Amino acid sequence: MTSSEISGFYRKGAQERWQVLREFGGLSDAELATIGNTGALAFDQVNRMIENVVGVHPLPLGVAMNFRVNGRDVLVPMAIEEPSVVAAASNAARMARKRGGFAASTSGPVMIGQIQLVGVPDPHGARLTILAHRDEILASANEKDPVLVKYGGGAKDVEVRVVETARGPMVVTHLLVDCRDAMGANAINTMAEAIAPRLEAWTGGRVYLRIISNLAVRRLARARAVFDKEAIKTDELSGEEVVEGILEAFAFADADPFRCATHNKGIMNGIDAVVVATGNDWRAVEAGAHAYAAWKSGGYRSLTTYEKDREGNLVGTIELPMPVGLVGGATAVHPTAKANVKLLGVKTASELAEIIASVGLAQNFAALRALATEGIQRGHMSLHARNIAATAGAVGDEIDRVAEVLVRERKVRMDRAAEVLADLRGKMDK
Ligand code: MEV
Repeated sequence: MTSSEISGFYRKGAQERWQVLREFGGLSDAELATIGNTGALAFDQVNRMIENVVGVHPLPLGVAMNFRVNGRDVLVPMAIEEPSVVAAASNAARMARKRGGFAASTSGPVMIGQIQLVGVPDPHGARLTILAHRDEILASANEKDPVLVKYGGGAKDVEVRVVETARGPMVVTHLLVDCRDAMGANAINTMAEAIAPRLEAWTGGRVYLRIISNLAVRRLARARAVFDKEAIKTDELSGEEVVEGILEAFAFADADPFRCATHNKGIMNGIDAVVVATGNDWRAVEAGAHAYAAWKSGGYRSLTTYEKDREGNLVGTIELPMPVGLVGGATAVHPTAKANVKLLGVKTASELAEIIASVGLAQNFAALRALATEGIQRGHMSLHARNIAATAGAVGDEIDRVAEVLVRERKVRMDRAAEVLADLRGKMDK
């Protein structure tokens, strides 16, 4: 089979779909069994979540320890393939505990739906015409989601902007919708589509796009932590020196987009892992985070800040859009996501957002502390060394013993692992 033009794949049963992969990609029965092992999910369940399903792609699920958020201890599930992320978050959370852990809050769960009007002869006049119909717009939007309205959410306000573009001015209406415990994309897109014809009728323009904005500046999550200087010192450096190092690292990121992309990526290591573990849309969170980092002060900046308090302790903060939900979407149907939400003990989307922001701050603090002191590789290397040791044939206790030597010698390589293992086994035989 050579053509990828395959119609009706979605109508085939699992066996037939696997047969296509077998023929097209030369996949073996063992490989197909791996892909087709849907674990905690029934094939039917996965099949209803997306199209053309052939199986699942599992990720490791770890649990971060030591987190205290708004006075409550939480164990935080994190789904991620990258070594060291869970350990780093747990370490940072332990260091934050001395000064009470994380104090987090949210702005409320308001998302923005955009409606694009083009070809309006008098854009500024049209703006005021639309604003004059605010109540009518809100009423017709809210008719589309009585359940959301019943729970205290729904469309709450209207804003209109005139945006200059390469194709002339566009009149862009923002519908502000309180999404309560839903992520809200479906509700917002439905509302935006419903009110569009009225906007055309009032302004004489033509509507094109009607869609949620991921720059969710009205759905922010924030967290703050004080890292006691004594709690963050290392074997080689005093607490004061570590604080200074982290301040230098933060200043670098906040001034230089090349560094800032990596700095913010480190934040997202923690954030995405919890977002994925709870079945939320990590692309929406990623898009919102980076757009916010660029939007809030006219250049790409750090999502976190660091300062010293009067006593010389390090004060860290984070603020970013956090469009996550608990109802609707995968969170409500994915059994692992449901168990993870239960473990977190959160009852509202805002509480979840607060924990996620705290993890982002912890992750960033851990990365900066490592980078500004011993460097990131040593921590990374110990887990990597265990993988190398196992690949070289070490089993049971041998794995840790071989890995220890590789890390100590800073030679985390297969050839050295094989030598160390042979040596170890030689000694055992004697
Ligand atoms: C690696 O996944 C993340 C870091 O690069 C983040 C950073 O540099 O701040 C360690």
